[in-house]
Amino acid sequence: MDLHTGDPYPVYERLRETEPVYRIREGAYLLSRYQDCLRVLADRESFLAPGGPGSSVGTADRPAPVLSRVMSSQNPPRHTRMRAAVARRFVEHVRGRQTWISGRCDQLLDPVVESLRDGATDMSGLAEALPRDTIMHILGLPQDDRLLVSTLVAGIFPTSGPLPDPDSGGAAAMQRLTAYLQEEVVRRRRRPGDDLMSEMVRAHTRRAGALPHDELIGILTGLVVAGYPQIAAGIETGIVLMSRHPQQATFLDGPATTRLFIDEVLRYDAPVQFTPAPRIPARTVVISGVPVPEGAHVWAALSAANRDPGVFPEPNEFRPGRGGPRHLSFGGGAHYCLGAELVHLEMSMLLRRLRQRAPDLMPARSPVQRLGRLRGFTSVPVIRPERES
Ligand code: HEM
Repeated sequence: MDLHTGDPYPVYERLRETEPVYRIREGAYLLSRYQDCLRVLADRESFLAPGGPGSSVGTADRPAPVLSRVMSSQNPPRHTRMRAAVARRFVEHVRGRQTWISGRCDQLLDPVVESLRDGATDMSGLAEALPRDTIMHILGLPQDDRLLVSTLVAGIFPTSGPLPDPDSGGAAAMQRLTAYLQEEVVRRRRRPGDDLMSEMVRAHTRRAGALPHDELIGILTGLVVAGYPQIAAGIETGIVLMSRHPQQATFLDGPATTRLFIDEVLRYDAPVQFTPAPRIPARTVVISGVPVPEGAHVWAALSAANRDPGVFPEPNEFRPGRGGPRHLSFGGGAHYCLGAELVHLEMSMLLRRLRQRAPDLMPARSPVQRLGRLRGFTSVPVIRPERES
């Protein structure tokens, strides 16, 4: 089975029909039907995250595999504690920083719109810059470190192959990112600011044992790792789709319809192809008629579930406002994406303003699809028609 392709959807279609519980290798399964994925995400009693209660998140001599420190890999009580420590604060910081995000969005758009006057322009830099700068601002990371953060995060993602593999590379980049965040935590202890990281460090040190240090680092790492490459992928896909579908792009002209447009972008090509962490059956379970043993790694292919024709009629059509149940791009259940509100905020802001300033955007050449579990495009060349000659 070749998922290492710009268009994995025909493969997913075949899997949904013939092998909905596909055995990737011994003890690892990929689910491609909507109801199966939803069940695995929602049923926390039967399907655990990989970190058991009190399990180690890695040591200095034996680094944890990629993503094992972050929240999506944890079970209660660790997961409950980590989520409670950050969820409300994160949303408050997102809401409190809308003016900053709006200003940064315009700053980044100015040169891009200017460059469109001269011809074809690649939008991938813009797509990365807004979410990266925003999460760095929310956490209070120095904007001078933008290149460093980009490099570390890039080292974590491209090494993930097209099929889910919890032990695939990226561990070294993850260790470096963690070390960088550790240093920032130490700096916040000495000189706190009004950013989210300072607030969490304060809460962490105020009461003994309020939040173990490794959990604090796990949360911060998760916010950076989950906090921008996925939105960048969503924005890249959004720009490609709005330039390919001018009729549907009119949804971006009103705030309510913009939400429908963004949701359809996220359904049509899920930025995160599979859940970041596998789910592990607590006992043998039968999924779509296939017994899946206790302890196996079960991956929900969110992008395949979003194209299930039993749930989304004519799923390969990009059709904003199609209705129906919600897409699974943000996962579901207890691990539902913490950043969903920020995703809608940034994607809506950027795509709406881009359309206001360049309403006649069209593809200049074929965009270059990213291969791997993170979708999006490494190059998004667009042009305005009057500049075409
Ligand atoms: C388009 C962008 C994004 C997509 C598609 C996305 C998708 C996901 C998915 C699929 C999950 C796993 C859900 C599960 O396992 O059930 C998740 C979890 C998570 N996401 Fe996002 N995400 C995005 C952006 C963000 C942003 C911007 C942040 C924060 C800055 C964020 C923070 C998190 C966190 C902390 C979790 C773990 C939640 C938990 O385990 O309780 N995500 N996201």
